[in-house]
Amino acid sequence: MTKNKIAIIGAGHTGSTLAFIIAERALADVVLLEIPDNEKPARGKALDIKESGPILGFNGSVVGTSNYEDIQGADIVVITAGAARKPGMSRDDLIQINENVMAQVTEGIKKYAPESKIIVLTNPVDAMTYAVYKLSGFPKERVLGQSGILDTARYRTFVSEALDVAQTDVTGLVLGGHGDTMVPILSTTLVGGVPLKALLPQDKIDAIVERTRKGGAEIVGLLGNGSAYYAPAAAIYEMAAAILRDEKRLVPAITYLDGEYGFKDICLGVPTILGANGVEKVVELDLTEDEQHQLQHSAEAVEEVKSALKKK
Ligand code: APR
Repeated sequence: MTKNKIAIIGAGHTGSTLAFIIAERALADVVLLEIPDNEKPARGKALDIKESGPILGFNGSVVGTSNYEDIQGADIVVITAGAARKPGMSRDDLIQINENVMAQVTEGIKKYAPESKIIVLTNPVDAMTYAVYKLSGFPKERVLGQSGILDTARYRTFVSEALDVAQTDVTGLVLGGHGDTMVPILSTTLVGGVPLKALLPQDKIDAIVERTRKGGAEIVGLLGNGSAYYAPAAAIYEMAAAILRDEKRLVPAITYLDGEYGFKDICLGVPTILGANGVEKVVELDLTEDEQHQLQHSAEAVEEVKSALKKK
């Protein structure tokens, strides 16, 4: 059996955490690719992860590198590379810096892993997924962005805390752009099969929705230096596993829309089926008028960010 291979571009907090999860769960061999200045730390992290194998009981290969040749044959390439916003940097500056990173990374992927599926995490993730889609020229089913699994996981966590029930018993769906305008679809929230509305009063649900919208900022505020990485890495793991194992998971993912939900030429979080081909289907739900209105508002916010891209 040929082994699967996942290349992770950017061996920072999220990239290295993801490498550990993939190795520990024996999903695939891992390559952690960094800029030349950070090659040594990437090699160090890869070796450190590998050295946990004899204890935790896994055997896969984990390597750090700055050479794109090493991503050759990757089934999936995850992009976590990029800069974080620094004091004094405008949002548009950040978008352009990270767009340049996407351009550089996409060149390497096109050359060495032209058949791969790409999963983008770098923020602003909806716009960066769009940039990678355009820059790569890959078919739309092979360029995905991660936001919805993470946003939904945060929502599920807050619901479970409010009800004191198992987190894994809460299911739901958060759609739209990765930001304050994300759209939790309340009708889809179930707790062990019971609709959330039967279990919690509306004001408590509203507070959970609000906290979910600001979930990323809550972690940034607590960490003091950097943004969330454990749950984002777990969310990417779930997407990669769905693809490599052809699981046909119905999960939210950022994908290029060509008329679905009434949107064209935009990458946005929607319910998808993930399998061996990447995004195998966009699942179109019958949204309420209010939900469709919220999704429209969210798409407009993503359009605005997207307008700062050079490559439109
Ligand atoms: N090629 C490869 N790696 C790069 C490049 C590049 N062109 N540019 C930057 N990097 C690397 C940096 O050297 C750094 O190690 O990307 C890594 C990013 O890691 P962190 O700064 O720790 O960021 P992290 O917390 O992992 O978040 C990564 O995901 O959730 C989003 O907003 C977050 O955009 C950010 C991304």
